[in-house]
This record gives sequence, structure tokens and C-alpha cells, in this order.
Amino acid sequence: MPKDNGALQFWNYQVASEYKPGVDAVIAPGDCLETLRRLPAKFAKLIITSPPYNLGKAYEKVTDLDAYLGALDPIVDELARVISPEGSLCWQVGNYVEKGEVFPLDIFYYRLFKERGFKLRNRIIWHFEHGLHASKRFSGRYETLLWFTKGDTYTFNLDSVRVPSKYPGKTHFKGEKRGQPSGNPLGKNPSDIWRIVTHDFETALWNIPNVKANHPEKTIHPCQFPIELVERCVLALTDEGDWVFDPFSGVGSALLAALKNKRKAFGCEKDEEYVRVAHQRIADLASGKLRYRHLGKPVHQPTGREKVAQVPLEWLTREAGG
Ligand SMILES: C[S@@+](CC[C@H](N)C(=O)[O-])C[C@H]1O[C@@H](n2cnc3c(N)ncnc32)[C@H](O)[C@@H]1O
Repeated sequence: MPKDNGALQFWNYQVASEYKPGVDAVIAPGDCLETLRRLPAKFAKLIITSPPYNLGKAYEKVTDLDAYLGALDPIVDELARVISPEGSLCWQVGNYVEKGEVFPLDIFYYRLFKERGFKLRNRIIWHFEHGLHASKRFSGRYETLLWFTKGDTYTFNLDSVRVPSKYPGKTHFKGEKRGQPSGNPLGKNPSDIWRIVTHDFETALWNIPNVKANHPEKTIHPCQFPIELVERCVLALTDEGDWVFDPFSGVGSALLAALKNKRKAFGCEKDEEYVRVAHQRIADLASGKLRYRHLGKPVHQPTGREKVAQVPLEWLTREAGG
């Protein structure tokens, strides 16, 4: 891999380890707060991340909720400084669970951003089908993505993320436009529930499978972003050439979503191994080898003929025997 101006060159991508306006991407190893303090004000059009959830994953140490949120405070101060006035911040979180009690993290985070003048535009429910089965409460099958903007004027390219309408043939039933098509030929607004897609086309819900063992994007990271989840935000909330910033970038899923769509990508990650994997994934994207789920690809639906989709014989015999 030839080096150029201190940046790594992956085919057509130049990847630096600190902010340089001319490069395509930056992966800054180490603590994001230290990196953030060196970054220029207002440079990021989109900040998108899934922060550590305090769940005791391999990369985090569990602390009590107040200490956890307190540690985020100076980081949020810096995020408010580096975001562009027309910029957006997308904060994706699940639940923190302590002794069986659920603390919905987005409710706690809302205050952190609101206090710094951010305005909530959507609380997006990201629904997925798979996960652990709870025994003392209902199994958790969604996470939330809080979309804030810094101001009242912000980039929102709805047309680039419209989904096909369920009934494109609908017409106005009265008035001057009676009989004319009432929908938008580009499709409809994808709404704030992102279920993917038995068919985006049929349901117009965004149901993006989370990245688990049999997902094409799976790496060593225990909880990656699906690239397509980030892509929707990148396409809607930025323009080509804008900077997309992920302060907790892990194996670089947000960076890939940005680069894939001709945006500049900046990530911070404290774990060296995840940084290495992120570099590899960028190299794979550049060489066309990266495996990823395509945005809007339908989720596999069992036909009912697969063995796993059938009721086990033992259950049927038990029912028959009373
Ligand atoms: C939920 S994961 C993000 C995964 C990422 N969205 C992806 O697709 O790979 C959070 C990441 O933040 C990293 N991290 C935690 N604290 C950090 C800090 N202070 N500075 C930089 N990275 C940090 C962890 O190592 C972990 O990889």
C-alpha cells in the first residue's frame, strides 16, 4: 500500500489518521474526545454513531448509568461544536438493562442533545426480527435512532430515499385533480419505522437486519451497524463531498456507507484491531471485494418448506396425544 502525504492509499481512496481536508477518509485511532478537540468547528454535515451501550460488550466496562452518561458529556459538547449549522446528528441506541430493569437510553440521551440546542426531527424505530429470547419480559426487537438537526435549515434529500408506494395507482377522488395519480412517481416517504422490507416495495417499512452471524457484513465486532442503515441517513442528510463523522466507528460501517456514496468519512476508534478491520474493509470496498447487503434488498422470507420453518414432529405428536 503506497503512502502519500502521510495518508494510506487504497486504490482511489486516501485514508489518513488525522484530519486533512484533501483526503477521502480519516480513521483516528484512540480516544474520540482527544481527536474531537483537535477538529475544526462546523466541519461535519452528518454525525452518525452507535455509542457504547454500557452492556459489558468486549470493548466496554459496565458502570452505573449516571457515570456512563457523565463520561459522554464532554464528547457531546465537542459534537455540538464540530457539526455544521445545516448538519444532522443520528444517535442510535438500544436499552441498558440493570438487574432486569430496562433503561431506554434514547430517553436519557435526548436531554443531553436538547440542552445543547439540537432539535429532534425523528425518533426512528429500527426493527429487526432476530435476537435473544427474554423469559421475564417481552423479547427486545427494536432499537432507536434519534435524528437531531443543529438548526432549522438543514439538508434533507427525501427523494433520494423514497420507497415505492404500496398503491401507486391511487388517484385523487375529487376536486380539480380528480382521476389523476395522487402519489409521487418517485415513491413515498419511508416513515419513521425502519422495518425492512419483506419488501420495501410491499410494506414500505424499513426492516434492516442487524448484523449477526450469517449476515454478509459480519466481522469480529460484536455489534456493527448494518451499512444500509447508515446509507439511508447519508443519502437523506448529506450531499456529495460532505463529511460524515462517527466518533465510535468500530469496524467502520458508517465510513463505508459514506465512501460508497461519494461522501468523505471520518471515524474515531480506540481499539486497534477494529481500526485494522476498518482499513481492510475500505480496501475491500475500493477493490470491489466488500460484502454488504444492498440498500432495500428484501429480507429472506421462509417459504414454509424449510425444515426450520416447520413445526417439529415431537410437538405435533404431543398435541395429538393431549
Ligand atoms: C457500538 S460500537 C460501534 C460499532 C460501529 N457502529 C460499527 O459498525 O462497527 C462502539 C465502539 O466505540 C468504541 N469506543 C468506545 N469508547 C470509545 C472512545 N472513547 N473513543 C473511541 N472509540 C471508543 C468501541 O471500541 C466500539 O468499537
